[in-house]
Amino acid sequence: MNDLLSKYPEEIKTILAKYPSEQKRSAVMPLLFLAQRKEGYIREQALSEISQILDIQETEVATLVGFYTLFHDGKTGIYHIQVCTDLCCALRGSEDFLTGLCEALEIKPGETSQDGMVTVEEVKCLAACDKAPMFQVQGKDGISYHENCNVDNTLEMIQEWRESGAAEQEETK
Ligand code: FES
Repeated sequence: MNDLLSKYPEEIKTILAKYPSEQKRSAVMPLLFLAQRKEGYIREQALSEISQILDIQETEVATLVGFYTLFHDGKTGIYHIQVCTDLCCALRGSEDFLTGLCEALEIKPGETSQDGMVTVEEVKCLAACDKAPMFQVQGKDGISYHENCNVDNTLEMIQEWRESGAAEQEETK
């Protein structure tokens, strides 16, 4: 079954149109982002589909997923929060922020909240060293960066995601 092709034919056409046909393998990154966009991770089936669309080996696609931290090959939350706890950020309280956030969500770093909405992960420098606590989040709308955060305003943000997810579900009923 071709999940990607059947779900996103127009998006795939638009992505492929950006590259010369003899260089279509260059579309691998946007296709991986497309595959990950809805569910937060890349299914094995998508690796196979992308390799067929681009005429490349499935292992080449899988290697990229393994190399880039923004791609996930296992189920994660719909929103994937990556908190920097590298030295500069640690000096500005990022470890306490991570601990507090995880406690509030009743998870450990690396885990996903029980409702499947949020995964929280610890990462190294994200190039906002003077604005910790900071994190990047991958979600339905792409990637965004959040600086000078605290647990309360992060939980408010998560609550908004939950409410918009519930509203979307209502609309599709
Ligand atoms: S050390 Fe955290 S963003 Fe650089």
